[in-house]
Amino acid sequence: MASLFCLLALSSLATAKIVSNVTFPSSIAADILLGQPLDGFVTLTAHNIVGNASNPNKFSNNLLNNLGYLTGTKPYIRVGGNTQDYAIYNANLTIALNGTVNATRSPDYPTTVEIGPSYFESYSTWPNVKFTHGFNMGGNHDSRQWATLLQTAAIACKALGKEKLNWWEYGNEPDLFATSSHGPVRPSNYNESDYVSEWLAATRAIKGVLAETCPDMLSNETYGYLAPSFAGVSNYLKAARVWADGLDVDGTVRYFSTHNYISGATSPGVTLQGTLMNHTRTRSSVDAHVSEFAEIAAAAPGLVQIMGETNSLYNQGKPGLSNSFGAALWGIDFNLYCASVGIGRVHMHMGTNYRYASWQPITTDLTVVGTKAPYYGNIAVAAFLGNLRIEPVRIAHLDLARAEGNGTETDVGVRDSAYAAYVDNALARIIVINMRAYNYTLNGTGDLDARNPAPRKVRTYNFGVAGFEDGREAVVRRLYANGSDAITGITWDGISYNYELALGKPVRLRNVTAGERVTVKDGAVELAVPDSQAVVLDFDAV
Ligand SMILES: *[C@@H]1O[C@H](CO)[C@@H](O)[C@H](O)[C@H]1NC(C)=O
Ligand SMILES: *[C@@H]1O[C@H](CO)[C@@H](O)[C@H](O)[C@H]1NC(C)=O
Ligand SMILES: *[C@@H]1O[C@H](CO)[C@@H](O)[C@H](O)[C@H]1NC(C)=O
Ligand SMILES: *[C@@H]1O[C@H](CO)[C@@H](O)[C@H](O)[C@H]1NC(C)=O
Ligand SMILES: *[C@@H]1O[C@H](CO)[C@@H](O)[C@H](O)[C@H]1NC(C)=O
Ligand SMILES: *[C@@H]1O[C@H](CO)[C@@H](O)[C@H](O)[C@H]1NC(C)=O
Ligand SMILES: *[C@@H]1O[C@H](CO)[C@@H](O)[C@H](O)[C@H]1NC(C)=O
Ligand SMILES: *[C@@H]1O[C@H](CO)[C@@H](O)[C@H](O)[C@H]1NC(C)=O
Ligand SMILES: *[C@@H]1O[C@H](CO)[C@@H](O)[C@H](O)[C@H]1NC(C)=O
Ligand SMILES: *[C@@H]1O[C@H](CO)[C@@H](O)[C@H](O)[C@H]1NC(C)=O
Ligand SMILES: *[C@@H]1O[C@H](CO)[C@@H](O)[C@H](O)[C@H]1NC(C)=O
Ligand SMILES: *[C@@H]1O[C@H](CO)[C@@H](O)[C@H](O)[C@H]1NC(C)=O
Repeated sequence: MASLFCLLALSSLATAKIVSNVTFPSSIAADILLGQPLDGFVTLTAHNIVGNASNPNKFSNNLLNNLGYLTGTKPYIRVGGNTQDYAIYNANLTIALNGTVNATRSPDYPTTVEIGPSYFESYSTWPNVKFTHGFNMGGNHDSRQWATLLQTAAIACKALGKEKLNWWEYGNEPDLFATSSHGPVRPSNYNESDYVSEWLAATRAIKGVLAETCPDMLSNETYGYLAPSFAGVSNYLKAARVWADGLDVDGTVRYFSTHNYISGATSPGVTLQGTLMNHTRTRSSVDAHVSEFAEIAAAAPGLVQIMGETNSLYNQGKPGLSNSFGAALWGIDFNLYCASVGIGRVHMHMGTNYRYASWQPITTDLTVVGTKAPYYGNIAVAAFLGNLRIEPVRIAHLDLARAEGNGTETDVGVRDSAYAAYVDNALARIIVINMRAYNYTLNGTGDLDARNPAPRKVRTYNFGVAGFEDGREAVVRRLYANGSDAITGITWDGISYNYELALGKPVRLRNVTAGERVTVKDGAVELAVPDSQAVVLDFDAV
């Protein structure tokens, strides 16, 4: 099939050379500890994307269905984030939400928020989606805070019921309450034991409301929290201390939830290659959470850590970086590295107009409706993990570092990334993410009239698959874009999920290659991957 991809690949194949030569065991001993992602691993955290009962957002629902189709569970949605700690209940409000933006505090979302009874209708708009409802702990210096907690507990439990509730959450990033750049909501001497007392008092009050209003939601299977939902590992409240101070004395913390951003939208020196398409950086960012959690897990056997909120660059992402295809590749690496180290779920944060959002649900003054590059990264992760309900997988991280060259390459310092998925201890899939940035527009400006004349290099990876017979085949699925600077024209295995084509439903394009295969030869498979591309080899699909 003639395709743009083939033309590009052939024109630059001359530069191909083997950049990686590592061996994947085709089966693993059952006792090797690999990350085992939970069902619904690919999840979201969001506010204001749902729409309401009279006007559900069908486009968003289609995109959620695509992910649900691949993993067996529609993404769990945490309705929370900074605005959860601003939301004050007003029973007389005739609209769902009245938000007032104060650009000094944040240009991207309202920092004064009232919600009314119809706000909770949004929980009924999408079929088969489970939500985490985030209660307001910060208070925003509003005297109605405690009344809001009791009123919203009653309304949220009725709106959700046990079918639609994932877990509750009380407070977003309380480790920043005393220092927040959006305005502190606790005194500067606020400490771990203060936080724990507040958290226990409020969650017990919520339980009291449920006992009155929703008594069927108090069993261990239906009542519990994501906590402590800290912003990071190095703020002035420490998670291990909070745990030691008795956060879980009631046995109600269902997942240890932590938040991560690789860096900030306006942090100095942030670049696509150096900050996001940088496996070393992703690893060290996630490893800090693994270290933090190790201390807590030692005292709480069986407790699982999740990324309750994460994305590329905090403050809603940086234009040109967070919405680019390079960020989609980062997202794959980040999610799968998390999976490989035992983080059970990853909630990718989004909101209307956010630069790092997986999609824009509606057209606003700032952003036009559409499927954005990071969504395609979510799809690739979902496809690589497969249906976790039917075939749970364990994920191994493969270190390609030792195969990256000896310092003579111009792209020295870039580490590609690879993972293996095992089903019943047998190798099922391999993914390789070529992390070398390639601009298809000159200098990455996005100007389609100024194409980059430099050819796109293609690297050849040689993956040993010890134990697989020669002649065995794998299906090749590529996450394709013109370059790391692309923000449109992205396909997964020849499929587009764009808004313009079918409102986010999958559409197979005729002009993109799909259906390639590779064959095991001399105990290995060889795979050519252009710079800035991710490729899955699926041995189980043959
Ligand atoms: C890959 O490594 C194996 C042993 O580790 C070696 O036998 C083989 O020649 C290498 N292949 C290439 C193409 O470098
Ligand atoms: C709602 O409106 C009623 C009637 O106008 C008023 O008595 C009540 O105080 C209002 N409640 C709130 C929370 O504003
Ligand atoms: C429902 O959504 C529509 C479209 O966004 C909006 O016009 C309407 O006011 C919303 N209804 C409520 C009750 O907020
Ligand atoms: C929304 O809040 C603003 C103040 O923040 C207020 O002026 C306005 O009347 C409110 N709108 C509604 C419908 O309550
Ligand atoms: C906006 O926020 C700033 C900083 O918190 C505050 O000083 C200012 O009074 C606020 N403006 C309005 C209109 O509330
Ligand atoms: C935490 O702060 C509270 C009140 O400010 C104080 O009573 C308590 O001693 C502090 N705890 C620690 C461990 O510093
Ligand atoms: C519910 O969970 C608590 C805390 O984890 C545990 O002590 C209790 O035995 C559980 N109850 C049931 C019925 O499983
Ligand atoms: C990747 O990140 C690491 C750690 O932050 C840094 O030392 C390295 O220079 C970065 N690599 C590139 C290519 O910028
Ligand atoms: C690095 O690799 C290049 C090309 O394979 C080779 O010419 C060079 O001698 C190597 N340098 C070292 C220090 O090993
Ligand atoms: C691209 O960058 C190069 C070197 O930084 C510069 O000389 C050139 O003018 C830039 N071209 C455009 C179109 O921005
Ligand atoms: C791509 O363009 C960006 C500017 O948008 C530039 O910083 C980066 O160095 C370019 N990358 C490559 C690989 O040329
Ligand atoms: C492939 O087809 C899609 C849908 O018809 C179109 O939007 C896109 O521009 C085509 N791409 C190329 C490279 O021709």
